[in-house]
Amino acid sequence: MSNPVLTPAAASGPIGVFDSGMGGLTVLRALRRQLPNADFLYLGDTARLPYGTKSPATVQSYALQTASLLVERGVCALVIACNTASVFALDALRMRFPELPIFGVIEPGADAVCEVSRSGRIGVLATESTIASNAYQRAILARRAQAKVFARPAPVLVALAEATWTNGDVPESVVRAYLDGWLGKDGPDSLLLGCTHFPALIEAIRKVADGRLKIVDSAETTARVVAQALGEVAGSRAAGYLATDSAERFSRLAPVFLGECVEVVEMVDL
Ligand code: DGL
Repeated sequence: MSNPVLTPAAASGPIGVFDSGMGGLTVLRALRRQLPNADFLYLGDTARLPYGTKSPATVQSYALQTASLLVERGVCALVIACNTASVFALDALRMRFPELPIFGVIEPGADAVCEVSRSGRIGVLATESTIASNAYQRAILARRAQAKVFARPAPVLVALAEATWTNGDVPESVVRAYLDGWLGKDGPDSLLLGCTHFPALIEAIRKVADGRLKIVDSAETTARVVAQALGEVAGSRAAGYLATDSAERFSRLAPVFLGECVEVVEMVDL
């Protein structure tokens, strides 16, 4: 299903962004760079993270609840920052809210990595459920039929990012383990970060990859797609934050993913 166009009259509310938790703030950060005047409303379903180990049916029902709350708050468009929710809920959300432009992260990520890969040998790190769905593998092969996709679940990177343990020996050795066999001449030439949390570990990933992989962050590429599709979105540069658990923890962890402090977080029940 394709997206409806956002008319200026419809573009009055904030852009809704949701994720299973804090990680989607990496997407919000990129969106704010691309759409500096827009207003955003971010919802982190922190009470139910992780989505990445859950079944498709559970992720889809969580995503429908999360999106419904944002729609009730009058958002003019919706960005599914969560890779796992993009895999299992994008079509269902577009069916439920046909009037709303809705964006996922899978297609933009696949586009970007196919563009930068020279050899067509492409690595993907994501959650267990995203990798098991084959969504990235399919999206990449649909763009480059001759590609060889190296796909691996990397759930410990989610835990490290949540623990704000993003630099130093431990994160680097975990990254090294996940890139095992991928850094030689038979490995991929590019690496797609297919999970909201992984950009928080970008320095450790860059250090371990040591220039041997072109790293593609699906947060950045998604933000570019959203900005292109929505065009100029006027607003007051405001951002609101909602969470389903612990406003205090949200505020404490926000700088790791967003790069800035978040003072006010509203608690919501889904
Ligand atoms: N937001 C999830 C994703 O991008 C990662 C965290 C989780 O497992 O919920 O797939």
